Amino acid sequence: MMHSVTCIAPVNIAVIKYWGKREEDLILPLNDSVSATLSTDHLCTKTTVTTSESFVENKILLNGKEESFSNPRLLRCLEELRKRGETANRCNPEILNWKIHVNTENNFPTAAGLASSASGYACLVYAISCLYGIEKDEISSIARQGSGSACRSLYSGFVQWQKGTLPDGSDSIAVQLADHTFWPEMRILILVVNDSRKKTSSTGGMSTSVKTSKLLKYRVETCVPQHTKDLIKALYEKNFENFGKITMQDSNQFHAVCLDTYPPCVYMNDVSHAIVNMVHQFNERKGGIRVAYTFDAGPNACLYLLENDVNDVLATINHVFPNDIWSSPDYIKGISIGKIALPQVDQYFVSNGQNLLKYIIYTKVGEGPKRIE
Ligand code: DP6
Repeated sequence: MMHSVTCIAPVNIAVIKYWGKREEDLILPLNDSVSATLSTDHLCTKTTVTTSESFVENKILLNGKEESFSNPRLLRCLEELRKRGETANRCNPEILNWKIHVNTENNFPTAAGLASSASGYACLVYAISCLYGIEKDEISSIARQGSGSACRSLYSGFVQWQKGTLPDGSDSIAVQLADHTFWPEMRILILVVNDSRKKTSSTGGMSTSVKTSKLLKYRVETCVPQHTKDLIKALYEKNFENFGKITMQDSNQFHAVCLDTYPPCVYMNDVSHAIVNMVHQFNERKGGIRVAYTFDAGPNACLYLLENDVNDVLATINHVFPNDIWSSPDYIKGISIGKIALPQVDQYFVSNGQNLLKYIIYTKVGEGPKRIE
């Protein structure tokens, strides 16, 4: 006897950042966060979970390489799913005791430095929930225990992770604010920065911030509640000007907290800062906010913008960050831009060095996890 399920799950990029836990084991955050789910057409994790009476041990293959199953977060997710499967009582209870084999792959290079833990845990938890007959609305607090940001990858569109107040974390869950069809013009450009530095993990970095940053306390108590309220209002009004401004301010404050951490966590590099300058210059030239940046725990930029501005922004990127492989099909991955006539960029923009970006991913807001055959 053997049961097998294959699922895909999306990556999400926060516009209001999660940074800091009030409880480390259950992964309970200090503040709410908000993200957009990215299209699985261009970035996703694909996971197959198989369970059989004949398996003698749990196994996990990550991008073709066997990893240890003794990771406490992984074990906790499985334990929670088994408990939930038992209460749900919608599968043959025997299979809850069988060992599982997991085969998980990302369709984007890990070298892109994109958080794969969010799509990874969302996919794993979703696939096992399908196997054990657990409803999707019950698994947010389980995915959260794999990696905090993973709970946001369970829904399409725009998602809020509500920090909750209960000590057991049962109300620290993700809720959908709007689905992927709500703001159809929204686009995302991920600028993958050439970088070889060793990075501090998000988990380690935020734990040091909680212990040492006084700015984090101010951010959590005063700024994030206001940012969240204003951002949700801007989203519902489809007001890109405000959406973009709050996104950039929240990213900047998160990186300010990283620098206020002792020892500091430095995630952005010179190229990241040059991207920030380019975005502000672009917006100044346009007389309003047309593109917004946000940076996670690494140097890559994620730009939010509307479809109408994509050509202009790409032309500016081509001018400010010239690249030898610009016209190669491998340089701009994702949504096909076809042969765009790059508009003339005015001389206001200064060109940086050659080949500072590795490549660009052009994508949009997308759907949540799905079971595939
Ligand atoms: C900067 O979810 O990776 O991307 O909960 O410890 O696994 P753990 O951390 P993780 O942190 C993500 C931090 C961030 C901001 C965000 O996605 O909100």
